[in-house]
Amino acid sequence: DPSGDLPLILLEWYDVHARAMPWRTPPADRAAGVRPDPYRIWLSEVMLQQTTVATVRDYFQRFTARWPTVVDLAAAADADVMGEWAGLGYYARARNLLKCARAVVAEHDGQFPADHAALLQLPGIGPYTAAAVSSIAFDLPFTVLDGNVERVMARLYDIHTPLPAAKPDLMTRAEVLTPAIRPGDYAQAVMDLGATICTPKSPACGICPWRDPCLARRNGTAAELPKKTPK
Ligand code: ADE
Repeated sequence: DPSGDLPLILLEWYDVHARAMPWRTPPADRAAGVRPDPYRIWLSEVMLQQTTVATVRDYFQRFTARWPTVVDLAAAADADVMGEWAGLGYYARARNLLKCARAVVAEHDGQFPADHAALLQLPGIGPYTAAAVSSIAFDLPFTVLDGNVERVMARLYDIHTPLPAAKPDLMTRAEVLTPAIRPGDYAQAVMDLGATICTPKSPACGICPWRDPCLARRNGTAAELPKKTPK
């Protein structure tokens, strides 16, 4: 049973193929002990919900140039933050962003807590963001489940149960795979795999680091997964 090797195979792939992003600490830097900035991880993950990486890049650069720390953001005027957010959509997220920054200052001395339960208590931080910040910023072994990860898991295990009913099963499978070492790199590796190789249409199975263990590839079903319940 090769499943114990799956996370390590993906981490080796990520060491070579990680996409550069302004909020990321490259795998080699992480290995050398460079820690990501939790503020930048949190901000990028909030922006990335329902917005593409390509769009988020410029917004992220402007936000962090203007407010380099969560303490700076907490002190910003509401209208200034809403102004910088304009175009990203989902304005409730921007309001929660400020609430969260102010709570980090008021309740955590201006430092994001390195604690999943404490992160979940903060305004606007739900299960996705808590898992992303825990794993990517603090290397805690939490599992991020977004659309990319759902698709990768559905294919790896050839799961034909439609979304959203399949979510709990996909989450369990994703959790079982999450390694104790380098969970932050691993979380980003699965997302990059889904964004660049295990794509919704015409997945590039021939160059996938998981091509051998992937059950959907073996069964010829990758392109039709994940199934979705018709709206
Ligand atoms: N989508 C959301 N968060 C991401 C991340 N950290 N890396 C790549 N894609 C993402």
